Amino acid sequence: MAPKSYPLWLLVSLTTIVFISLCASFAEANEERQVYIVYMGHLPSEGYITESHHLNLLDQVLDGSSARENLVYSYRRSFNGLAAKLTKQEKEKLAGMEGIVSVFPSKNLKPHTTRSWDFLRFPETVRRNPALESDVIIGMLDTGIWPESKSFSDEGVGPRPSKWKGACISLKCNNKIIGARYYHSLSESSDSEDSARDFDGHGTHTASTAAGRSVQNTSLYGLAGGTARGAAPSARIAVYKICWEVCGEHDILAAFNDAVADGVDIISISVGSYAAEDYFNDVIAIGAFHAMRKGILVSASGGNNGPDRGTVSNVAPWMLVSAASSTDRHIIDKLVMGNRRTIVGTSINTFPTEKRSYPFISAETCYNLTQDMVKGKIVFCGTSADVSGPFLAGAEGVVMLGTDIDFAFSYPLPALTVSSSERSSLIEYINKTRNPVANIHKSEAVFDSTAPVIASFSSRGPNIITPDILKPDISAPGINILAGWSPEASMSEYDNDTRSVMYNIVSGTSMACPHVTGAAAYVKSFHPKWSPAAIMSALVTTASPMNLSLHQDAELAYGAGQVNPRKAVNPGLVYDATAQDYIKMLCDQGYNVSMIRRISGEKSSCSKSKKGSARGLNYPTMALFVKLDKPFIGKFLRTVTNVGKEDSKYTARISSDPKLKVTVEPNQLSFRKLHENQKFVVTVSGRLHGMNSLASASVIWSDGKHSVRSPIIVHTKNKEQ
Ligand SMILES: *[C@@H]1O[C@H](CO)[C@@H](O)[C@H](O)[C@H]1NC(C)=O
Ligand SMILES: *[C@@H]1O[C@H](CO)[C@@H](O)[C@H](O)[C@H]1NC(C)=O
Ligand SMILES: *[C@@H]1O[C@H](CO)[C@@H](O)[C@H](O)[C@H]1NC(C)=O
Ligand SMILES: *[C@@H]1O[C@H](CO)[C@@H](O)[C@H](O)[C@H]1NC(C)=O
Ligand SMILES: *[C@@H]1O[C@H](CO)[C@@H](O)[C@H](O)[C@H]1NC(C)=O
Ligand SMILES: *[C@@H]1O[C@H](CO)[C@@H](O)[C@H](O)[C@H]1NC(C)=O
Repeated sequence: MAPKSYPLWLLVSLTTIVFISLCASFAEANEERQVYIVYMGHLPSEGYITESHHLNLLDQVLDGSSARENLVYSYRRSFNGLAAKLTKQEKEKLAGMEGIVSVFPSKNLKPHTTRSWDFLRFPETVRRNPALESDVIIGMLDTGIWPESKSFSDEGVGPRPSKWKGACISLKCNNKIIGARYYHSLSESSDSEDSARDFDGHGTHTASTAAGRSVQNTSLYGLAGGTARGAAPSARIAVYKICWEVCGEHDILAAFNDAVADGVDIISISVGSYAAEDYFNDVIAIGAFHAMRKGILVSASGGNNGPDRGTVSNVAPWMLVSAASSTDRHIIDKLVMGNRRTIVGTSINTFPTEKRSYPFISAETCYNLTQDMVKGKIVFCGTSADVSGPFLAGAEGVVMLGTDIDFAFSYPLPALTVSSSERSSLIEYINKTRNPVANIHKSEAVFDSTAPVIASFSSRGPNIITPDILKPDISAPGINILAGWSPEASMSEYDNDTRSVMYNIVSGTSMACPHVTGAAAYVKSFHPKWSPAAIMSALVTTASPMNLSLHQDAELAYGAGQVNPRKAVNPGLVYDATAQDYIKMLCDQGYNVSMIRRISGEKSSCSKSKKGSARGLNYPTMALFVKLDKPFIGKFLRTVTNVGKEDSKYTARISSDPKLKVTVEPNQLSFRKLHENQKFVVTVSGRLHGMNSLASASVIWSDGKHSVRSPIIVHTKNKEQ
């Protein structure tokens, strides 16, 4: 598929960065049916739901149409719900019925490595727990997988864990890929087979990043060479193919329904929408909630809609959400002009550097170019993103201008993006030279000492649903990542690009997410009994702080910092939380008791009738949304659990922006035993001036060996308010 317009489609399509298009077309005519998701909460503790329950329910609202014909999915393995084709009236009727939590139109979402692990100081020789690691099953909800990739070889891998209840549908599994299902109820597919096989590349890339075997001598045409490996090379992969041209929300929920019941340990989903939705109108948040209740951690990407604030789209506190950052390997590309001037730009250009130069011409845009104009030439076409015009017209190369050139795209011909500030020098050379010529060199990798820096495209907080919960949580490499690919997919994602590769370099929060998923699997291999919240806490409190002076949005951009899997195995203390704690947070958010009971399945009651704040949740980071120019004081009550050593004593250290006053009470905690809990209160006060201002601090608990760091961020109005 060729990209259409800059910048959204560019990000979506070129790097397969999975991200949404809100193509929910609300039914205009009354008769017009569209797919709605009908979420009904928990499964009954006694008895079970059958398809006829769902058909009966539909029969009560359908207007002269058959229930069976309009039922798309009946969800009943892990939670209760259905997807059905309904008219607007039928939807209204259904929404008013007893037992329904939410009814919302099914939207189409879009899907949002090698060197990166060394950059994270997570070498191949790291201490491992192979027996337990091989018990960890990662459910990949993505575009499928290329099972023949060397990254998924099961050579030397033992039999699959006995707890596994999944199935292999449409693909031949092995002991590495132990499950494969696909969900394709309605969407059109251009794939050549109806199966969990990956024809896009994205799913193979994310799966090999999280749990790929170590494969030597991989590169993209010699670029970014090295050993490709996942974080948890012994972990098992279960594939749930949810994305075809797009990823239907009804299909995504069906995959969660199966993955949770099949017995995966971690779910990785590099998919999302453009905007955060209320939790129970969001299939990823719903699926993740039921996964969390079964002890399954969900790791999701934050989205590629940065650098504006308020753009992070996966925001539920019961899942771990990643931002994307650079590694120290930057990929550059050079334009050499006839006057011997060299301009450094970016792109992933695998075409060999030619000995000769080509005529260099200027065009207003990359569109409407004819063969007569561009064949055999290098075209400078201003700010653009889509090179299919010049490519199909036979150009030898394309030069474009851009502002965010911190990451690189692939093109089907030699092409690169140079800084917008080069515009006048390019035009001057082309206009004032009798025979302007240029040569575009093959890309090369260079060392970048500023890394890690958050990608320009990485979605920023604040969390617009719950501003007192920091999202994204953590950052991980997501720029120019080399990992497995589908040989049936276009390397650059341009239709007419015929290069077929087993390893490819792409960027996105989609690529950051499986780094965090793999790190979580690594932690789980040492602590198989830890709750999703404990694993999340371990990763968050041991993340490496990032350079504040390089990030004007601070924690809203990178969360707690860069993931550090080795440290996360031994965090010292964890901020744990149970399903009940999240339910209490929902009460505080104003969800009423009847709704909460349907979701939780327990006789939960909200203690306060008054709307409270999400700050009460025992979260490993602390966020405070305050009014502009008004003095504020915010308190965070937290509980830490000792998972380090018995008889240990921790002291709190504060590091803070001078705009804030932060205290911790008590500031010493003594633990006699393992798994003992201790409480403390962090009080933050101050005043923020100016729109969109923010201030941050951190509280670090240390026993001399462990350092348990929680960022604190105070922020005011964002563009959404
Ligand atoms: C990797 O490539 C290098 C250089 O081409 C070669 O010397 C080496 O034998 C290769 N290693 C493997 C395991 O293929
Ligand atoms: C291309 O040409 C068509 C027909 O002349 C015109 O309608 C269209 O706007 C042009 N597109 C661009 C991007 O210039
Ligand atoms: C591009 O691909 C289409 C479909 O495969 C093909 O019909 C067309 O000839 C190709 N165009 C070029 C210029 O290669
Ligand atoms: C330079 O080229 C541009 C684009 O072709 C044209 O619009 C402009 O008039 C030229 N300027 C000069 C100084 O020749
Ligand atoms: C943070 O970035 C600034 C600007 O590039 C640099 O001068 C400084 O040394 C960096 N600090 C650290 C701790 O790396
Ligand atoms: C609870 O909230 C739902 C959704 O907002 C609403 O439909 C329902 O009437 C409320 N129930 C009570 C008892 O307030």
